[in-house]
Amino acid sequence: MKKSFVFLLACGMSLSLAAQSITVSEARFSVGDGPSWKDAGFDDSGWRILSFDKDWTEQGISNDNAFAWYRLHVVIPSELKDPLTGNVVLDLGPVDDNEETFLNGVKVGATNGWNVPRRYLAAGKLVKWDKENVIAVRVYNGTGKGGFFAGDACIVKPVLSDCVALSLAQKDGKVEATLSSALKTKGTVEVVQTDVLTETILSTQEQKINLKAGSDATLSWPAGENTRFTVTYKDDNFGESITEIKCLPYILTPPAPATPRYNGPAVFGVRPGSPVIFRLAFSGDKPMKYEVEGLPEGVSVNPDNGVLSGSVAKKGEYPLSLKATNAKGSTTASFTLVVGEDKIALTPPMGWNSWNCWATSVSQEKVTASALAMLNRGLADYGYSYINIDDAWEAPERAADGSIVPNEKFPDMKALGDWLHSNGLRLGIYSSPGDMTCGGYLGTLGHEEQDARTWNEWGIDYLKYDWCGYAKVYAAQNDHSVASYIRPYLKMEEYLRQQPRDIFYSLCQYGMAEVWTWGHAVDANSWRTTGDITDTWASLKEIGFDRQPELYPYAGPGHWNDPDMLVVGKVGWSANLRDSRLTPDEQYTHISLWALLAANMLIGCPIEQIDDFTFNLLCNNEVNAVNQDVLGKQARRYSDEDGIQVWARPLADGTMAVGIFNLNETPVNVDLADALSKAGIHKIAGVRDLWRQQDIEVGSYIIPSHGVRLVKVQKACCRH
Ligand code: GAL
Repeated sequence: MKKSFVFLLACGMSLSLAAQSITVSEARFSVGDGPSWKDAGFDDSGWRILSFDKDWTEQGISNDNAFAWYRLHVVIPSELKDPLTGNVVLDLGPVDDNEETFLNGVKVGATNGWNVPRRYLAAGKLVKWDKENVIAVRVYNGTGKGGFFAGDACIVKPVLSDCVALSLAQKDGKVEATLSSALKTKGTVEVVQTDVLTETILSTQEQKINLKAGSDATLSWPAGENTRFTVTYKDDNFGESITEIKCLPYILTPPAPATPRYNGPAVFGVRPGSPVIFRLAFSGDKPMKYEVEGLPEGVSVNPDNGVLSGSVAKKGEYPLSLKATNAKGSTTASFTLVVGEDKIALTPPMGWNSWNCWATSVSQEKVTASALAMLNRGLADYGYSYINIDDAWEAPERAADGSIVPNEKFPDMKALGDWLHSNGLRLGIYSSPGDMTCGGYLGTLGHEEQDARTWNEWGIDYLKYDWCGYAKVYAAQNDHSVASYIRPYLKMEEYLRQQPRDIFYSLCQYGMAEVWTWGHAVDANSWRTTGDITDTWASLKEIGFDRQPELYPYAGPGHWNDPDMLVVGKVGWSANLRDSRLTPDEQYTHISLWALLAANMLIGCPIEQIDDFTFNLLCNNEVNAVNQDVLGKQARRYSDEDGIQVWARPLADGTMAVGIFNLNETPVNVDLADALSKAGIHKIAGVRDLWRQQDIEVGSYIIPSHGVRLVKVQKACCRH
């Protein structure tokens, strides 16, 4: 029989036990930090009570770049003692930002990252069964929201995955499954290998396994091409199983031809008199010779590297014919150089940013390595041009004259800018309208004009201006109108636009006050629409699929919605990098969706470490052409049924780009005609699969779990 009753504790928290679990919905709370705050006997009777369903900001606490503690007083009934292991599990849910958890004074776990659930196995010997226990949670908050926010914490009996971990990795041409167990147990490992392109099962194998307490076991299989490994461990004692899936990276796109091929945008805009910095993006064997017909006075092309430089005084649209020649052949492309006020960022920015890989460990050396690889690995031949330094370049003090200076990791910003420009690449920088940045470095507050001038002198072409430290100014004003969100961005706009160069103005304030409705009014070229992305499906799904559907009316040439930087390749937000935790299918989805959304395409991994899979993901000219389409229309979501979403955008050539995404946990067979009809496309003259670069039939296609079919459709009524 299931038990269900309520405990009422001295501190006033109500706890309920139902179906062998306890839920806790509030706790004693204090900002600050103390060595004895973890201990069961610490007197917290003077602390206030906060609930777990709202973060502490929403409960009236402001506590940036600082610690705070929650103390949960809980009677843990012996019914929760797991007969198999004698242990119990603390399932706290996500905590914003970083946390350490103690049970009766002993540390049981710690996790960094605001949206990561916390679930810790606590040894039974730490628990005072049927008596009051104290779970003390020490939280560090960067800026903004902090603490528990997602509802109840739970105390539950362990399940198999709390005691046995199964992880899969690809190593030396093999797929390895490692099982590690906290207890003595035995069971069976089953591995199913599936061809991802056809969804046919290639093989199924089983193996018995015995695990000692605290031991590991590793099994391995040769890694085949285009193969998905589904590994299931069935445990005899628990009678439960855990499954992990590893899909090996698979390349859908055929290699680029050796002959020259133009992969860049069809248009580039510059203000009158501003430096033109543009590299003609042709793939194909090098060396290559470049020629341009129709160049206006003041601009020339370097015939050896295809870099356009100079400036144009006269407003106008200049149609150009671009030509590239190598040993294998020659090709031409039509292009328009647009000169006018208000004419920059006519297509979304493509480039690199240091944050998702290096975070605060960024240095000039690392930036240069990525820039060099952008040239040498050929990403510049696909239109990637911005090299953006994120936070952590700033020295702790300004110079005597008040100007901002880089720290010792950036010996010469101007030299870096000059070198990038001579190669047709552009330099980006980061700051905050507040006194401090998110990473705790110097911000721009009170030095707006001076900083804009300094950046001009260094040759900065992109500014990411991140709210962070400005939260204090905002809070002190006691003015919560939209105008108070606009003010700091308006101020920087004035000084930025006074500079005699074009600086892409990127707002970063996580979408507050519906920035997309007023970003254009501060002449922003893009605005972040959400908080930070991370390399998990949960994050990609939330930011890409849940938060973007309503935003399509606000994007267009010159001003773009920015759902944050790419999490492909090696990421890690530190000096220690790892492969993106997104599966290959999730990565195809990520790039497809960002192309459809006309989003900023800022690569978040070190380019010098890019593998073939990631290169192909980032350098498919037909996919990138959707992102860079000159109409600049962001995709709408036309349908969301049974986990299948259809997003589509019209392109300048009269065709439609359509993404059919499978958000389910299993592959789904999708009828293409049916999916396209959801986007209002009924008469079809032709369909091209953009990842495979192949014309395809209007048939049925299997879309893998979390994967996509990205197509370009020619409607029968609009044949060109
Ligand atoms: C965050 C921002 C990140 C990164 C970081 C630097 O607020 O969203 O993209 O710039 O600050 O400290």
